[in-house]
Amino acid sequence: MKNIVLIGMMGTYKTTAGKIVAKELKKKFLDTDKILASRFNMSINRYFEKYGEQSFREQEHMLCLELGDETDTVISTGGGVVKNYDNILAFKKNGIIICLSASPYQIYSRIKNSKTRPLLKSPNPLKKIEEILAERDPLYKKAADVIIHNDYMSGRQTAYAILDYIKTIKTD
Ligand code: S3P
Repeated sequence: MKNIVLIGMMGTYKTTAGKIVAKELKKKFLDTDKILASRFNMSINRYFEKYGEQSFREQEHMLCLELGDETDTVISTGGGVVKNYDNILAFKKNGIIICLSASPYQIYSRIKNSKTRPLLKSPNPLKKIEEILAERDPLYKKAADVIIHNDYMSGRQTAYAILDYIKTIKTD
């Protein structure tokens, strides 16, 4: 069966929903940020501070090439994975790309207390989210096989929306 690859901005429930989808479909679950943090032996936040975003993107890219060869897996990705279209091409080899999306304010209210998002270390995080979203919106649209807007959904409801979509397509 094809991989289910979740892309989208931070705070769109990629990890929460991805875990539920994997459990329901009895598939393996992988989270790119979690794998990277464990390989770095430090948090993503710390890695950004120490080595910068460029280095993080290179490591993220290598991992995407690696995970493109997986099968039967639900993969949750970091919000910036779309910045390199080669990451998406690697996932498209054997995957369905589902983009989770939410409005800037919704994203802000979901993650405003998070200390783990290096890109939000800004005096005006809502503005920063708007800026990142404006830049990435076309990239998410280009990459996605489908977009699920989840402003009015919980993580669990998002998972069920993903499962409903999967029922309508061919996944083998
Ligand atoms: C990032 C999102 C984060 C993480 C890193 C960069 C981004 O992942 O990969 O902090 O560029 O949007 P989440 O989307 O899981 O928060």
